[in-house]
Amino acid sequence: MRRRQFCQSALMVTATPWLLQGATALAQTTQRSLAAEDGKIKPLLAKMTLDEKLGQMVQPELGNIKDEADIEKYSFGSVLSGGGADPVEGNSLLAWTNTIDRLIARSRKSRLGIPILYGVDAVHGHGNVLGATVYPHNVALGCTRNAALVEALGKVTAQEVRATGIHWTFAPCVAVPRDDRWGRTYEGYSEDTALVAQLGAAAVRGMQQGGLQNPQAVLACAKHYIGDGGTTWGSTKRRDGSSGMDQGNTEIDEATLRKVHLPGYQAAVAAGVGSIMVSYNSWNGVKASGISHLLTDILKKELGFEGFLVSDYYAIGQIDRDYKKALMLSINAGMDMAMEPAKYELFITTLRELVVDGSVSMARIDDAVTRILRVKSMMGLLDSKRDQLADRSLHASFGGAAHREIARQAVRESLVLLKNDKQVLPLKRSAKRIHVAGIGADDIGMQCGGWTVEWQGKMGAVTSGGTTILQGLRYAAPKTVITYAVDGKGVEGADVCVLVVGETPYAEGVGDKEDLSLSAEDQALLATVQKSGVPVVLVVLSGRPQILGAAVDQAAAIVAAWLPGSEGQGVADVLFGDHGPTGKLSFSWPRNMAQEPINIGDANYDPLFPYGFGLGYKA
Ligand code: BGC
Repeated sequence: MRRRQFCQSALMVTATPWLLQGATALAQTTQRSLAAEDGKIKPLLAKMTLDEKLGQMVQPELGNIKDEADIEKYSFGSVLSGGGADPVEGNSLLAWTNTIDRLIARSRKSRLGIPILYGVDAVHGHGNVLGATVYPHNVALGCTRNAALVEALGKVTAQEVRATGIHWTFAPCVAVPRDDRWGRTYEGYSEDTALVAQLGAAAVRGMQQGGLQNPQAVLACAKHYIGDGGTTWGSTKRRDGSSGMDQGNTEIDEATLRKVHLPGYQAAVAAGVGSIMVSYNSWNGVKASGISHLLTDILKKELGFEGFLVSDYYAIGQIDRDYKKALMLSINAGMDMAMEPAKYELFITTLRELVVDGSVSMARIDDAVTRILRVKSMMGLLDSKRDQLADRSLHASFGGAAHREIARQAVRESLVLLKNDKQVLPLKRSAKRIHVAGIGADDIGMQCGGWTVEWQGKMGAVTSGGTTILQGLRYAAPKTVITYAVDGKGVEGADVCVLVVGETPYAEGVGDKEDLSLSAEDQALLATVQKSGVPVVLVVLSGRPQILGAAVDQAAAIVAAWLPGSEGQGVADVLFGDHGPTGKLSFSWPRNMAQEPINIGDANYDPLFPYGFGLGYKA
């Protein structure tokens, strides 16, 4: 269930052969200019009334549309389902496909028959839908350093999204998280700008299948422009009065903003990204959603971005208490589409008033609508001969073995081995007994993290398909005795204990945390298990580095497994040594909270494990 207005004021390519073929084919697809569509859409624009134009500029949320007839009546440009916002018919592949097909058909009944672009957060696979393949979150993908793999993941994500008839994903997130206390750190590939730019562009190429004209392409959306990862701790207050930083204030000069936070967008634009989401955060006290210098001067004029800008969920209303003023500032700054989950009528009437009284020019409206229609045109949505319905032949591969195999590959390439005393890893199949314990050992919801079926994710069997880490270990070593007790009981006498601990699921500001220490329960369990004398392999599931404290000495081996998603077998592949660990940290791993924020290049840089760290099995 969704939510809320939450707060507040040359990399090694080791992809499997079929993936490599895919990557090469993508590279050969020609990148067409979006503006080249303008000739085709001009006659359509000329036929549109002001209200039809305003309708194209708004994006309500499915559950907030009062009557589906409004889609036709207002000629919406887009409809979204935010995290956890399922169709009323349910959360199955079929329910989604039928719903989207119905809504698209409805939009085609509007006077000009322009189909909606349906948008979702397929941020680590098509995670809203039950049974989809859930890929590792970006923090993990950063550790693979494998752009071909990220491109391939984008491609298979697009296939699962297109299977449901959806055309648009609000991904990739090209944030450069600079402070691990941020609840969205895991949505970023790295604290390092260059790595973010490289992997973000790869994701765009994959999702857009090398070109939006490809019928299997899904429109990508680089987000959140700009500086979302650079906010200051304490610059927001949460509902309970505690400090936070999500949607906060990024207090840096323009040169630093450009150096750290802009290259991800430059790379995404160069890769042909068709949409960009503007961020909730402020830049030096002013909401980015209303800053013309950022939206128009830098993005559209300087970088030559030809696609359209969409605002974040209710973000325009955060610019000013007076909605009319907020909307005027945002549209004049260059916002093209407004994500207004329930306020679509208010948006249309207010923007109409602003146009009529001359506060927003007709030229600005035409520019916004042109940008939206360019994307629709290139994606074939304006082609009246196409039925625009989902390609249900893609259902066969949805959540299927081939997609899970690449997810599993991504998991194993993302694990980072931080410590391995006396070569306790890899686990030996000849062991008398391996004991498995910990809150994360047999929990697919915890592995998947936020943005999985629910906005916040949830513990337990959040989705169908896939394997937990315990199941993965058992599949990997069917003849080895593997015992399990979440609380560690029965560890005595085992050869080794695999203890899986870490963060429970969260998303956005809910995950802002002042203290990133392992939980008291995890620490106590580790201490108890260690007292048994059985060597502990500590597997940490988390969206960011954790403060390990005494665990650094207590555990014989430590593996950072991040939020690996639905394929626990990828973790087992590495623990049993069927694939050696190759992941390298994409974030610096601090010794204690006093070191936060900590980033490579800082003066007196002295983390527990530096950026780029990662052991292999062969010393
Ligand atoms: C998030 C975006 C997301 C949007 C739609 C917002 O709260 O900041 O990342 O794309 O919701 O779900």
